[in-house]
Parts: sequence; C-alpha cells; structure tokens
Amino acid sequence: MPNLGPNQSLIDVPGSKKALTTPALILDLDAFEANLANHTRLCGEAGIRLRPHSKTHKCSEIARRQLAAGALGVCCATLHEANIMIDAGITGVLITSPVVGAAKINRLIQLNKNTEKLKLVADNPTNVSDLSNTATRENTTLDVLVDIDVGMARTGIHAVSEIIAQARLISDSPGLTYAGIQAYSGRVQHIEDYLEREKEYGEQLDYLETIVKALADARLKPGIISGGGTGTHAIDCIRKIFTEHQTGSYIFMDVEYNAVELVKDASSPFATSLYMQCTVISNNAGGFVTIDGGYKCFATDGPKPEVATESLPGSSYDRFGDEHGKIILGEQCQKPIIGTPVTLITPHCDPTVNLHNYLHCVRGDKLVDIWPIDARGVL
Ligand SMILES: Cc1ncc(COP(=O)(O)O)c(C=O)c1O
Repeated sequence: MPNLGPNQSLIDVPGSKKALTTPALILDLDAFEANLANHTRLCGEAGIRLRPHSKTHKCSEIARRQLAAGALGVCCATLHEANIMIDAGITGVLITSPVVGAAKINRLIQLNKNTEKLKLVADNPTNVSDLSNTATRENTTLDVLVDIDVGMARTGIHAVSEIIAQARLISDSPGLTYAGIQAYSGRVQHIEDYLEREKEYGEQLDYLETIVKALADARLKPGIISGGGTGTHAIDCIRKIFTEHQTGSYIFMDVEYNAVELVKDASSPFATSLYMQCTVISNNAGGFVTIDGGYKCFATDGPKPEVATESLPGSSYDRFGDEHGKIILGEQCQKPIIGTPVTLITPHCDPTVNLHNYLHCVRGDKLVDIWPIDARGVL
C-alpha cells in the first residue's frame, strides 16, 4: 500500500473533507471530470486531437485519465516530468522545451528506449546534431518537432527561412525523424479581454499559417502542428490550424484564469476544481484570523488566493509569511474559531501544485481518493 500522507485514513469516511490535516490541496472530482469532458468535446468538434500539458498537474493518475478520455499522450515541460510519466506507463509524451547538454540527452535517449513515440522540440542546429549523434550511437530513433516562436521569444525559431532549414536538418539527420512543429504562445493566454486576445493572437496565428504553407512548399509539410493553451482554446478551435492541443490549466482553473474571458459572449466551459484547504490557527487579532497557508503553500508569482468558504462572505486573503496567511474578515462575518477549515481558490495552479505532495480528491464533503503529485520537482 503506497504512503498517501496524513489524510489516508480519512478516505471514504463520510464528511471527511472538513477533517483534513492542512494545508491540503483539494481536487473537486465532479468539476474536474466536467472540465475534462468539456475540453475533449470542444476539441473533438473542431477536429483537433489532445495532448494536454502535464506541467499543470504533475500527476500520472491525471495523465492516465486524460489518455482514457482520448488524448494522444501528454506534454511534459522537463525531462524529469517525462521520466516520471513514462515510468508510470504514460505513452505519447512530447517534451515541449529543448533538452540540452550531454547528460540530459543521454537520459533522454535511454528514456526513449523505454517508451513508445517519445517526442521533443528543438530550436537550435547544434542541439539537433547532438540529438542525432547520441541517438545514432545508441541505435535508436527520436521524433523531433521544430520549436517555433510566433511572438513570445522564450524558445523557438522565428524566421521562416531558419524554420525551414531546421526542419530540413532534422529530416536529414540520422537517428531523428522530422515529426512536425510546435508553436506555443504563452503571454497571450492571460489577456483577459477576449477581443484583445483574439487580435494579438490572431496575428500570431496568421504568421503560423504562413510558416505551415512555406514548409509544405518546401516539401516539409508538418505532420504534427502542436500548441495552444487554456486562454486560446476557443480561438484555436475556430482557426483549426493545430492538429493537436497542449492545454494545461483547463482541468483545474485558478484565480488568474477565472479572470480571463475564455469564450466570446458565453460562460466558461471550465470551472474551478482545485482548491487549497487551510485551517484557522489563531484568532486573537481584530478583523482578521490567521491560517496555516503562506508562501510555501501558494504560488506567489500572480494574484492572491481567493476565499471560497461560504460562511466567510466578503473575506479576502493576504500574505502573512512563509507558513501563514491572513483572512481579512468580511463585514458580515462572525470570527471563526480556531480549527475552522478555510477553502481558497489557488492563485496560479501550476506552481502551486508543484509545492505539494498529494491531491485530495473529494466528492461533495467526502474525501474519496488521494493521488500523488509524483512528477513534482524540477530536475
Ligand atoms: C509549452 C506549453 N504548452 C502548453 C501550456 C499550457 O497552457 P495553459 O496552462 O495556459 O493551458 C503551457 C503553459 O505554460 C506551456 O508552457
């Protein structure tokens, strides 16, 4: 029996959610399953396959459910994530960031021997040559996609001529198969206004269409065109350029994404499924109480967490130290006693999940399962 942490004995106990040892990351299974089904349906209607990004959840159990819902595989941001997913039996992994340096490339090639259809991106000719030399030496073949920069300039190649040269180089390199292109655009995902996002991203997609045509004219038509995120999923489903979608946050949602108008003139197809449950540990001060969730519990790169507990209307969270958070009480609120559970919406789901060991899966007020966040960490 695996060790599932301090809440293991509460699984299937009626009413156990409120008894959890905290801070506990909570997954509302009904909302999670609805998000999974909605996204599968929307992409299916647009004829786009799914390769969701596992950087969001870092949890092989969720990856398994995404595959069971029809995904081709999952994306991974790092070799470490890919390693954990593959060891857990997840197939169809695409590593969405360049893998650089002899030590990592050697690990990558060994991993490639243990799985089906491992893919990765490359944006540099020297990297392509390193991948080719190691794959050839080890008598294996790797699927490589050209990483394209459509405007974010984080990784990827921007100029059409250089993209064609990179595709040709991959195609001509022993030990490598030219599998297609990736064009993920990060910054635009969180532009809150739909029309503003559509305008800026639309121009990037126009450029992507030019690239796809230029590759086809050069007899390098990409088999895979991979990209997209939660913020652009609706636009991607209209434009239908991608053959597969890399959406990550849709399964959880968070304060940042809840502020984004995901669909034009319609409600979001995705609801919050991820919460943090904390506990009031001190209530001596006036107007606020202190909970056991601070910097080490929530990502701090974005907005603050939002209070979701119904009995605390109008209350807000403020940062209060490494292990502490402040709940500033709404005017109508009675001061909660120590030991009271407080539930919050996470500010930015990906880096918050990476701070925790387990997802506590609930239905209604009952803990029904615990899933390890087995790919957390950075190596
Ligand atoms: C390369 C790549 N693809 C897909 C995603 C998923 O994006 P989102 O969480 O906005 O759906 C990310 C997120 O950062 C990413 O870096």
